[in-house]
Amino acid sequence: MKLLCVAGARPNFMKIAPILREMKKHQSLQPKLVHTGQHYDNKMSDVFFKELQIPAPDIHLNVGSGTHAEQTAEIMKRFEAVVLQEKPDWVVVLGDVNSTLACSVTAAKLHVPVAHVEAGLRSYDRTMPEEINRLVTDAIAEVLFTTEKSGNENLIKEGKPESQIYFTGNVMIDSLVFAKPQINRSQVSTDLKLPDKSYCITTLHRPSNVDDPKTLAKIFEIFDTIQNKLSVVFPIHPRTRKMIETFGLSDKVSKMKNLRLMDPVGYFDFVSLTAHAKMAITDSGGLQEETTYLGVPCLTMRENTERPITIEVGTNTLVGSDEQLIYSKVDEIIKGTYKNGSVPELWDGRAAER
Ligand code: UD1
Ligand code: UDP
Repeated sequence: MKLLCVAGARPNFMKIAPILREMKKHQSLQPKLVHTGQHYDNKMSDVFFKELQIPAPDIHLNVGSGTHAEQTAEIMKRFEAVVLQEKPDWVVVLGDVNSTLACSVTAAKLHVPVAHVEAGLRSYDRTMPEEINRLVTDAIAEVLFTTEKSGNENLIKEGKPESQIYFTGNVMIDSLVFAKPQINRSQVSTDLKLPDKSYCITTLHRPSNVDDPKTLAKIFEIFDTIQNKLSVVFPIHPRTRKMIETFGLSDKVSKMKNLRLMDPVGYFDFVSLTAHAKMAITDSGGLQEETTYLGVPCLTMRENTERPITIEVGTNTLVGSDEQLIYSKVDEIIKGTYKNGSVPELWDGRAAER
């Protein structure tokens, strides 16, 4: 069976690593890795190949950045030629990024069946580009692998037959479990002189938070208050860095003494920073899941989440940009009265195998 496995943006790399490793164990499978090039900086792509031992891509589409239509169209154009040449039996896509949508639509139109890993998640917010990507991909995928039961329920509500849906667990957590020894060896907290549980780890990159000048300025007002209670460590996504500069916020941000902005960090260091943090503030899908797995309190600066299990079972709370709610939750976390979570079903390091 010939499979084209697609990865393109940072969160895809942690998800594809365990899947390729498992596929290699089955002689009947011939996987090839296609990197779309949606993310291309060393710190957004190469570092994960090295750390997670992902084989070099068999095919690189080198699409780079663009508007949604430009990027999606360019991936489709280049991926179509690859599918015609390679004649795969299946195309495997992951998550909810533009590369996921582009390659699934291309494959389906060439009558190649699509398998979607991390299917069925829904924020029910169609202003999020990822929600459109999830809906379209799931509508045309023939096999759907889910990370939490809400995914199965959403897919059934949308009319997908139960026989196409497999609750297999969370491949992102597979990577975390696989990398535990290297994560434990990371010296990043010592290098940054960060005592255990003395800081908040932060990432933000959703367009709804960072692409509007007033919203981004308000978010940094909130961080200004938080950093007086707890240091904030903020490996910054290139999109967010660009917006801070575009909106003229650089000076204001650099004056916050306990807010440490830095380039994106590698996977081992990032998960280590998260594991040793007192708490996280984020809008990242992956970080909502990783904090739940690690038992680290997480405040999600969004109005909704497509990963409700992280709230119901895990350590996550949706706080939007409600500053009073954020401050009161930060105080709870500092005082130790914040809720405890537990690890969701099948987030056990063996999802790819299943
Ligand atoms: C994308 C995904 C988002 C995911 C995020 C993970 C879509 C619609 N969005 O958002 O779901 O959570 O990746 O990180 O697919 N850039 C660089 N270097 C890079 C990559 C991007 O500088 O290696 C900059 C470019 O200015 C680019 C901008 O970041 O225009 C945004 O990149 P893009 O891939 O379009 O969206 P993300 O915000 O990264
Ligand atoms: N991550 C990382 N370095 C960073 C920030 C994040 O290795 O500086 C990892 C993080 O551990 C998680 C993934 O990137 O595994 C999440 O990706 P991202 O936040 O870009 O996307 P999302 O999950 O929101 O789609």
